[in-house]
Amino acid sequence: MQIRVENSVVGDLDALVVAIFSDETPVLTTLDNKTRELVERIKALGGATKLMESETVIYGEDGPAKRLLVIGAGKVADFGVAAARNLAGSAARNLRKKGAKKLAFALPTGNLKAESAVQAFAEGIILSTFETGVYRTGENKEEKNLEEVLFVSEDNLKAAIERGVIIGEGANLARRLANEPANQMYPALLAEEAQKVAEQTGLEFHALNKEQLTEGGFKAILAVGQGSIHEPRMIVLKYNGAGEDQPYLGLVGKGVTFDSGGISIKPSEGMGDMKMDMSGGAWVIGIMRILGQLKPKINVLGIVPAAENMPSSTAYRPGDIIGTLEGKTIEVLNTDAEGRIVLADGLTYARKLGATKLVDLATLTGAVVVALGHTATGVFGSDQPFTDLFLTTAQEAGERAWQLPLFPEYREQITSTVGDIVNTGGRSAGSITAATFLKEFTGGVPWIHLDIAGTAYTEGEKPYLAKGSSGQIIRTLVDFVFANC
Ligand code: BES
Ligand code: MN
Ligand code: ZN
Repeated sequence: MQIRVENSVVGDLDALVVAIFSDETPVLTTLDNKTRELVERIKALGGATKLMESETVIYGEDGPAKRLLVIGAGKVADFGVAAARNLAGSAARNLRKKGAKKLAFALPTGNLKAESAVQAFAEGIILSTFETGVYRTGENKEEKNLEEVLFVSEDNLKAAIERGVIIGEGANLARRLANEPANQMYPALLAEEAQKVAEQTGLEFHALNKEQLTEGGFKAILAVGQGSIHEPRMIVLKYNGAGEDQPYLGLVGKGVTFDSGGISIKPSEGMGDMKMDMSGGAWVIGIMRILGQLKPKINVLGIVPAAENMPSSTAYRPGDIIGTLEGKTIEVLNTDAEGRIVLADGLTYARKLGATKLVDLATLTGAVVVALGHTATGVFGSDQPFTDLFLTTAQEAGERAWQLPLFPEYREQITSTVGDIVNTGGRSAGSITAATFLKEFTGGVPWIHLDIAGTAYTEGEKPYLAKGSSGQIIRTLVDFVFANC
């Protein structure tokens, strides 16, 4: 798809999208008389007043496009980057479904900084182009792709639009990896995807295989992966934007390519969704590609401990005591609490490779879905200023994130009598005890844990987002990396 920026509507277009605020007179100087008249008439009739509410008009011979879509942007004061992203995304998605290929957008920016608004528009449009039916064949296949998008905007906003496109495309890569079924996306293949990203964007890449993991003492990830024919990998992408002598920010993403629960097997209903239990890892790979393209002045390590959690005669069992790269021993009470085990080695490895600050992201607990639903990402942190920076960044990026506590009292729930730590603290405070477990492997450096179990995936489709992998919080993480420069 091609994206252009022009000062006026030009070209052979399938649709022109115009957004209007309910409490501001639209400034339509860049549009032709016919469109202006139609927009004003729709406004006079009270159409497109609420956010996302829209009216479609078919132009006659004299129109600049085949269709005009007038969409409500709501009230100026309520218009944030999330609304901007969703508005542009839902308009593009809607029109694409109708077969439109060439679109133009004339969108107001309200009180937002023009750069932030157009970046959000571009992100929303790119996210809306995401293809979910990749395994459909014959007449079930939908060949409905956008070919061209024109922004009616000032030239000086090109860079912000380009940034939005890069972020949108990185998020779509992450979503594609997360949506892949587990027979098409096991640890070795996830490593190949990371390698491709490294080749495309000039990042350093390596992935430790089973022999190398054994040699290196990565006992935790090996235990989780030992029940599967698909051997685990510790995947590493390195971005150096500040010079080799500078410290690294470590991004560690859970890469469980399928979570059956293992011997503590999950109920069959909904088990298929656990193909997305490597969303954290997929997000990390997407973010590393974005960083490779945007080139911030900072060093970032992306680490994905990837394993498949399966029940078999070689699988790890409840009651097993396992070692870790860090040295602590884990008493396994439930093989379904596997994410924290692979992350234990991922976090330790990040520090060994030079990370002095850590962020991990994981579809870690069902409990966070109970607490925050599918709306907000659960945030935990060991260093409040570092965590506060993340929370304000999320707010500015228009993505919901909410902090939960890590009071020392919770540590008692995961004390083991035979080893150092147990891998589940029972039903109460499940997300917090999982985070408390991870903290044991951070070596006291500033660390943030994001539990994305509720937000990585949408169960139903939304006007601006296809059903399945969402890419949520990637945008915030990119901004957060820049905020740490
Ligand atoms: N991958 C799951 C968590 C999950 C649940 C992600 C729902 C997305 C949606 C994780 O590995 C898991 O199974 N967690 C257990 C932990 C429990 C056994 C302590 C859970 O949340 O039930
Ligand atoms: Mn599990
Ligand atoms: Zn899991």
